[in-house]
Amino acid sequence: MTDLFSPIQLGDYQLPNRVFMAPLTRARSLAGGVPKAGLKAEYYSERASAGLIIAEATAISPMGLGWLNTSGIWNEAQQEAWTPVTDAVHEKNGHIFIQLWHMGAIVTPDFIEGKQPLSASNVQLEGELRTPNDRKQKLVEPKAMTITDISQAQDEFVNAAKKSIAAGFDGVEIHAANGFLIDQFIRDKTNKRKDQYGGTIENRVRFCLEVVEKISKEIGSGKVGIRISPTNTVWGIKDSDYLKTFSYLVKQLNDYDLAYLHILEPKPNSDHFIETIDYITPKLRELYQGIIIANGGYTKETAILSIQSNEADAIAFGSSFIANPDLVERFMKNAHLNEPADDSLYYSNDAEGYTKYPTLEKLRKTA
Ligand SMILES: Cc1cc2nc3c(=O)[nH]c(=O)nc-3n(C[C@H](O)[C@H](O)[C@H](O)COP(=O)(O)O)c2cc1C
Repeated sequence: MTDLFSPIQLGDYQLPNRVFMAPLTRARSLAGGVPKAGLKAEYYSERASAGLIIAEATAISPMGLGWLNTSGIWNEAQQEAWTPVTDAVHEKNGHIFIQLWHMGAIVTPDFIEGKQPLSASNVQLEGELRTPNDRKQKLVEPKAMTITDISQAQDEFVNAAKKSIAAGFDGVEIHAANGFLIDQFIRDKTNKRKDQYGGTIENRVRFCLEVVEKISKEIGSGKVGIRISPTNTVWGIKDSDYLKTFSYLVKQLNDYDLAYLHILEPKPNSDHFIETIDYITPKLRELYQGIIIANGGYTKETAILSIQSNEADAIAFGSSFIANPDLVERFMKNAHLNEPADDSLYYSNDAEGYTKYPTLEKLRKTA
């Protein structure tokens, strides 16, 4: 019977197990969005036994970057710094995709020389973020993107995908989740456009599908995944009929033969989701013909149930991978899981709280 430890064919790749690492923003970058190569190589190679690593959200352009000390993948310096990271994972026979990120309206002006951030429409979202000027800044009203802005952002996604492959990533995950730019186009709270990118559901998903199509053409659809989070209301994002909207999107995605669809489910006790917890993966499973990765609050036991009941093909684990680089081995052996040292170190910028969490192997050696 298929379980968490069964191999899986995902796009162009045969992967050894179905315990995937979810994308986790962990900062650790230099100025200019250049990743700290040595540190990230160590961190990701420690986690190479995951069936697939989906590396952190990584900005596709300066206008898309609004989170302190995070990396980009739009220029050659960034590409070069990512290369030793992918090499280190491949040396351990791992596979690694990178998540392509444009934050849209969630970029605060300090990051972009005081300019207005970009979005589908001029709808301000909620929240504040720490900026390079060492202060917190509230989200502001974004500029509604012109058709030229839209085509430029799509070109930036394609450029970032090309550079990701050149840096040795096995593929890319398009970040259409968590209220960022693509999600801002999809949902009707943030998309008030009157042109071909707004209004009907068909129009609201157009930006997303065009990004999917252009990237797939450039690097091959077997190297492209996409992440959505239909029930997530983080930053105040919402859709008046998320089931209808995302059902339509998911049905359209069947046309692209992607490596996978990654669905972020509500996490129990999170205040970022709609009031009533609605597990949407079973509904979307009926509409999607490809590989589904589910994520959000899974334990080993619920992950096995989800795979055995054919609700999902693989499960991505986020927080569990922070402190358990050898999560796969721990699951196989029913071993105890480490707790993260301190969540104030999630987004700090050096090794502490990042690398060197004890593995079972290290513990055996020191016993
Ligand atoms: C520190 C941290 C950073 C995260 N960064 C990202 C990210 O870069 N991209 C993304 O799509 N989700 C991100 N998430 C969400 C996770 O991928 C995942 O959806 C969430 O942790 C729920 O899964 P879990 O219950 O297994 O932790 C992040 C979560 C945490 C805790």
